[in-house]
Amino acid sequence: MTLRLGDIAPDFVAETTEGTIKFHEWLGTSWGVLFSHPADYTPVCTTELGTVAKLQKEFEARNVKVLALSVDGVESHKGWIGDINETQNTKVDFPIIADPDFKVANLYDMVHPNASDKFTVRSVFVIGSDKKIKLTITYPASTGRNFDELLRVIDSLQLTANYSVATPANWKNSEDVVVSPAIKTADAIVKFPKGVREIKPYLRMTPQPNK
Ligand code: BEZ
Repeated sequence: MTLRLGDIAPDFVAETTEGTIKFHEWLGTSWGVLFSHPADYTPVCTTELGTVAKLQKEFEARNVKVLALSVDGVESHKGWIGDINETQNTKVDFPIIADPDFKVANLYDMVHPNASDKFTVRSVFVIGSDKKIKLTITYPASTGRNFDELLRVIDSLQLTANYSVATPANWKNSEDVVVSPAIKTADAIVKFPKGVREIKPYLRMTPQPNK
């Protein structure tokens, strides 16, 4: 199934390292990150899960729950978590879906047969509190993801959701943001009391509203 931005993230029930999860119920009112791994006991995945474990507080601060997926079973995941904790000097305390029958992987189109028909690629779905898909990224198995970039994008998505702003190229948290093209400059001046800098009628900047 091809999933596109704005689609409702498909609901599912899955076994995980922290018990059975009904996805939408588990998300509640939080945002979510669902990300797949080619397989357990693989080197790149081990570093990725360790990195996410270390960033867990950053995700929580943004009201984001993280949920990993690998197409091995729960017992395999649990053994692997021991290795991740040991080698990455951290503690994985988010769930990992066991998906040996590829049920969730197929639902989210995480298997790209021309890359491999045995493993998932490195898919990432960011899901908003409205359960809609806000971002999809696909990396090949050989490239570990940049989770700092994922946090940066979540900051941008949440600013857009809350303040009618967009973020420019290479934007970083606390830098100026772009006033949404849907807002007239006269209205923007009222809406953004920190000031609006009009570079062109279609290119207006304002300080980050929540800083
Ligand atoms: C890894 O996670 O290290 C990996 C998995 C599949 C292919 C290549 C690397």
